[in-house]
Order: sequence, then C-alpha cells, then structure tokens
Amino acid sequence: MSQQLTFVILSSGLDSLRELRAALAARDHTHLLAAGDDTEQMLPEVERLRPNAAIVALGAEPEQALKFVERVASVSPTTAVVCASRDASPDLILRSLRAGARDFLHLPVAPAEFETVLARTAEFCHVQPVAKKKRGRAVAVFSSKGGCGTSFIATNLAASLSAPTVLVDLNLQAGDLTLFLGVEPKYTIADLVENREQADDAMLKSYLAPHSANLSLLAAPREADAADDIEAEHVFSVIQILRERYDYVVIDPQHTFDSITLAALDQVDEILMVLTLDIPAIRSAQRTLAIFDRLGYPRHKVRIVVNRWSKQIDLDLRQVERYLGERVMGFITSDYRAVVNSINLGQPLVESDPSSRIAGEIRQIAAGLGGGAHANAPAPSPEADGERRGLLAGLFRRQAKVQEQTKSARALLDKKAVGGQPSPVG
Ligand SMILES: Nc1ncnc2c1ncn2[C@@H]1O[C@H](COP(=O)(O)OP(=O)(O)O)[C@@H](O)[C@H]1O
Ligand SMILES: [Mg+2]
Repeated sequence: MSQQLTFVILSSGLDSLRELRAALAARDHTHLLAAGDDTEQMLPEVERLRPNAAIVALGAEPEQALKFVERVASVSPTTAVVCASRDASPDLILRSLRAGARDFLHLPVAPAEFETVLARTAEFCHVQPVAKKKRGRAVAVFSSKGGCGTSFIATNLAASLSAPTVLVDLNLQAGDLTLFLGVEPKYTIADLVENREQADDAMLKSYLAPHSANLSLLAAPREADAADDIEAEHVFSVIQILRERYDYVVIDPQHTFDSITLAALDQVDEILMVLTLDIPAIRSAQRTLAIFDRLGYPRHKVRIVVNRWSKQIDLDLRQVERYLGERVMGFITSDYRAVVNSINLGQPLVESDPSSRIAGEIRQIAAGLGGGAHANAPAPSPEADGERRGLLAGLFRRQAKVQEQTKSARALLDKKAVGGQPSPVG
C-alpha cells in the first residue's frame, strides 16, 4: 500500500511559494501540511508535524534559510530537506548540502526533475510515492449472435459482485439495460463522453444510475442519434475512467465487431463469451474464437459460458468443449419463466430470487472471474446433477442417442460452418 508524502514549504518569495505549491498539488500522493515565509513560525511547525520533507526556497540572500535547514535537521531528523532556488550555482548547491539538505531543486520547477526529487525523497523516507492507479477489473459479456442472453447475464453478474461495480450498456443504438435494472437515469454515456475531460468523482457519479449500494448503470443514449457522436476512442477512455474508480466494470456490448465493441473488447481483462446449445450459436461462437485469435486476444482472456442449458438438449457441454477446443467455464440453466419474470420485474434474478438455481450458477461464474477460486476449474457438468435412478442404463442409452445425434449435428456444423476465412458476424 502506498502512502502520501507529506511536505512543508518555507519560502520568502511569493512566486516560488506558488510554484512549489502548484507542483505538489499536481501530483497524487503528495500532501502539503504547511507553508510559510517565516523561519521562526515554520520551525515549530516542522517539529510538530514531522513532515517527510521540507522544501526550502533560497532567495537572493539565502543565509537565514540555510540556518533553517540546519535547524530542521536537529528538530526533525527524519525530515528530508530539499533546497530550491533559481540560482543553481555549484556554490549554492554545496552550501545547501553542507547545511543538511538532501537534494536540490532548480527553479522554475521542471516536471521531470521534480519527479526525480520526489522519488528520491520517497526513498529516503521509505515511502512508496507513486501508487499505481486503481484498475478495476473490466469484463465484457459478449456474443456475436443476439438473443443468447448476454444482457441478462451481464446484469445478473454485475448484481452478484460484492464490490463497487458499474454496468455499461454499449448497445448504443438500442440499449435496454435500464429496464433490466429498473432504473430511470437522468444521464447516459453520451453525457459522460461529452464531459469526460472534466469528470471528477462527483460528476462521474451523477452520470450513473444507482441500482443498489454496489451497482450503478451507465446507460445507453436515450435517442439513437445521440450515439452517432460517440467514437471508439471515447468508449475506450470512458472505460478507463470507470475502472479507475470502480472495482468492476461489466460491459454489455453489441453483437457485432464494430469499432465501439472492439474498443471495449480490446481493453477488458476478460470476455465471457455466451452461447446457447444450438447449431447457429455454436457455429457463431466458433467463428468468434477465430476472430479473437486474429485480433491477438490470448485464449485465457476468453471464457465460455453456456446459457439456457437443459438436459433435454442432446448436446452436452463436453462435446461443445471438444468442438470449440476450449473449456466451458460456466453454464446457466434454461428457465424461461424465472428469467422473463425477473426481466419484466426490472430486478436481477440474483436479487429477486437469490436461492434459485440460476442465481447460484451466476454466482459460480462471478466467483471464477479474475482467476478466482473457480477460474480454472472446469464447469461442473450439469449432466452430473441429473437423476441418479437407473444411472448406468440411462447413461448407456443416453450416450448412444447423444452420439448418434451429435454425429448429425457435427456433420451439419462441418457442412455449414468451418473452413474458409471467418468473417465478422452480425
Ligand atoms: N437462462 C435462460 N433461460 C431462459 N431464458 C433465457 C435465459 N437467458 C436468457 N433468456 C431469454 O433470452 C432472451 C434474450 O435475452 P437477452 O439477455 O436479452 O439476450 P441478448 O442480450 O444476448 O440479446 C430473453 O427473453 C430472456 O428471457
Ligand atoms: Mg442484449
């Protein structure tokens, strides 16, 4: 964990004081405790505050200030003194060091030199000054085919995370996540894009629609034409801004490989690729994986989630894994009634019915995010939850049937799909 570097400034000249104050204010993780021009007032302050560093500006007559430097060493030996002056003559530098200064800063402040002085001061004080910016985990829930349930899954996944989370509706033309979350936002992503340069914490918050203590929505524009002004680079920086302030950014992109979607997919840590167990969806997933390969996404960035699983479907998860050459990370049972009711209620199922089977499956997927405990475990096979009665007989019957049907399904896939250049799927 990094700490702040604390400072006091002594400067008899107002210009130098302003300049040094501004230089400190421009850096994260520096904190100015006191500043003044009177050595007699500042010395007790140094003794009381024991700052990490004292910056002492030396004017045309530096004697009194150099005395102050000597006295700081005796009242607060742990305080690093940095002398600063427009005069960087070897003579003045030497006198500063002899008085006890640890470093010397040439004025006006040059940013690179100031960084070096800060780094050295931090090292002297055993403080780690440059904290990495927060970088929340960004996850896109994606399918190149509409209707597989990405909006439902993105919403429920976001609602199941127990840390500050923003759900981003990147269906800029026709986003409907406000309905999934039952919120009526005042602002949308179009407003944030327009004002992204000024977005401080309070302003950013006002652009989001709060759903619960941990979850807010960055909604899609209300009017489709407001989306026309939003470009890929805007989306990139909006996601950047969000992940600096939230632990999770869950994104529901469009089902196409347009530039906005790619800006999001490029940046996220993880892509949950959703498919259902029907031939068009599996074929589309296979093409998507090929496109991800061409885009250079590492395979571990992509996690496959099967939605609307049912034991009545005679294609099991392992067959899909073999076909796609990738493991299935999670599956969600088909329960149209429960899902549609939760959507119509405007409340994620993980909230409206947390003990439901689907809610448990969503939580399992959430637990596997970001290398979580379940990240590398294969999805527990839903087939294993099946009825145990007559297990062996049933299994043999089933296997025979599955093999037969998979053979025809695979033949169909081979005929329709694979081969040739994969093309963006719309
Ligand atoms: N696990 C599920 N079981 C049953 N129906 C589902 C399931 N997941 C999604 N659906 C249904 O599928 C439809 C499409 O879901 P949606 O999330 O809007 O898909 P997408 O955003 O991928 O187009 C919705 O009507 C939803 O009720
Ligand atoms: Mg959708």
